[in-house]
This record gives sequence, C-alpha cells and structure tokens, in this order.
Amino acid sequence: MTPRSLPLRDESRDLQLSAADFQRIARLVHSETGIAMPDAKEPLVYARLVKRLRQLSLRSFGDYIDLLSRPEAGEERAMFISSITTNTTRFFREQHHFELLGRTVLPPLFAEAKRGARIRLWSAGCSSGEEAYSIAITVLRLCPKAADLDLKVLATDIDREILETARAGRFAATSLSILPDDIRESFFGATDAEGKRQVAPQVRGLVSFKSMNLVKPWPVTGPFDVIFCRNVAIYFDVDTQERIWRGFAGALAPGGHLFIGHSERLSPPVRHQFETVGMTSFRLRAAESSGGQGKESFGGTTGQH
Ligand SMILES: C[S@@+](CC[C@H](N)C(=O)[O-])C[C@H]1O[C@@H](n2cnc3c(N)ncnc32)[C@H](O)[C@@H]1O
Repeated sequence: MTPRSLPLRDESRDLQLSAADFQRIARLVHSETGIAMPDAKEPLVYARLVKRLRQLSLRSFGDYIDLLSRPEAGEERAMFISSITTNTTRFFREQHHFELLGRTVLPPLFAEAKRGARIRLWSAGCSSGEEAYSIAITVLRLCPKAADLDLKVLATDIDREILETARAGRFAATSLSILPDDIRESFFGATDAEGKRQVAPQVRGLVSFKSMNLVKPWPVTGPFDVIFCRNVAIYFDVDTQERIWRGFAGALAPGGHLFIGHSERLSPPVRHQFETVGMTSFRLRAAESSGGQGKESFGGTTGQH
C-alpha cells in the first residue's frame, strides 16, 4: 500500500504527514542531496523527522517545510539533511577493496610519491570516517613514513554532523573487535572511560575531512589517483548516478582507480571509460582522463584541499 492510498489519518501517529507534504519533502531532499525518495520511504521520513518537529514544538510537517524554505534556515536545513542521510559504515567494509588497494594500486603510487609526485585519495561520502581511516591504515601498513610524502586522503560528506564524529576519530572499542589485533593495537589508542578508542595521530594526520555535496559543484583539487565512493550513489536516481560517475572519470588521473559499492553499477556510457580490475573496482583507461579538471561533473574539481 503506498502512502497515497493510506487512510487520511493514521491514529498511531500524533503528527500527520499528508501525501502532499511528503511529496514536498521528497522534492526538497532530491534537490538538496540527489537522494531519491519514492513513496515507500514515507515511514522512514516520518520516523526520522518527527523527533525534530517535536523538539521545535511544530504541529505539522507543513510548518516544518515552511521553516526549511526560509532563506535564514541554513542550520536547520543542515540538520534536516543529517536526519535524512543513512550513515551506515564500518572499518574495512568490503575487505577485497582494501586488499586490491594494498596489493596493486598503492605500490606504484608510493614509487611515484618517493620521486616527489603528489598523490591524492578521496573517500567521497565518508560518513563517520571508517572508510577514510581504513584507506589511511592501508597506506601506513605498507608505507609507515607516508607522512613524509605528498600523499593525502580527502574525506567528504554532505552531512556536517557525521563529519564531526569522523573528525573526532573516536570509535566504540566493540566496533573495532572485527579488526585484526595488529591493526587494532598499532593504529588505535587505549580504550577510554567511555569505551572508545581514538584513531592514532599518524592515521588522523593523513586524512582531511570536508563538507561537500556531490550533487553541487565540487570544490576539490584533482586529479585523484584513487576514489572510493561506495554505498552513496545507490540512494540517487539514475541520472544523478550517471553524472556522479562522469564527474569521477573527469576527476581521476590517467590510470586512476574507482571503487564503488557492491550494489552499485557504472552506467553504460561511463562504463566503457574504465576497465574492471576487481569486484566493483575499476581503472580509468588512460585516454579517458581529463587530468582532474572534470568533464561534465558538478562543476569540475577546482578548489583547494
Ligand atoms: C551509507 S553511507 C556510506 C559510507 C561509506 N562510503 C561506506 O561505504 O561505508 C552514505 C553516505 O553518503 C552521504 N551522502 C548522501 N548524499 C550525499 C551527497 N549528495 N553528497 C555527499 N555525500 C552524500 C551520507 O551523508 C552518508 O554519510
């Protein structure tokens, strides 16, 4: 049953979300984030926003949308986006990506970096930082002196709240139990009074976190040698996905690598620009790179990081 065919009032809810208001929210989410909101997401939208409406003592979703539409509502819009995004992640998620990174992608990049080259890796849609820190740990295991090279990991996300968690780099000790002992002991501090462990300074030092919306112009400096964008595009409509993939092809250095989520697919027009090097792992064909200037991305890659 779609929300439109639901009875007008759902007595289990103290605040009602009308079909029209849900559509207004879906349009706002799509225009702000690229995230597609089909009718089936109505219960999720309700569950994620109702708490905020209560905090603000608002009596209807319509009032909340009106509030979000005010020019001065920037902070509230950031909180709205944070409520809507799904931030599920974990260290070394899809371990095969990190094996490929360590085995075949990084060694030639280290050789270039030792000759003075600039090496950039990007975790796009980094959530609370586990992906970016997993990349940095993979780097440091192979190259303990990586800090002496011009090698950096950029980690970006639209959700400013989750980026604070990422920057803090403190993780529940229980969530680290999945890691091999040597990684846990070498790259994390001792468990603190709150049961958390801080990522080691040498790991934190390789990563810079920035707020960035993938469906708006990209204020980052390419070219990138490696891009991880996993389990992010899955939430976008097909057109937006394709523009993101095209943007990455434009932002990668010749022969650069792109890792995507296991449920994601490169759309056909972009797909031929890459060769497959592993499961959901691709290498940009040399002739396809525009040297990091971006082709038809969301504004190219031009700013600083
Ligand atoms: C499910 S998490 C994936 C985290 C990590 N990449 C992984 O695979 O474990 C998706 C992340 O994408 C972010 N995101 C969603 N829409 C975005 C957008 N338009 N621009 C940048 N990040 C976005 C969300 O805030 C969320 O943190």
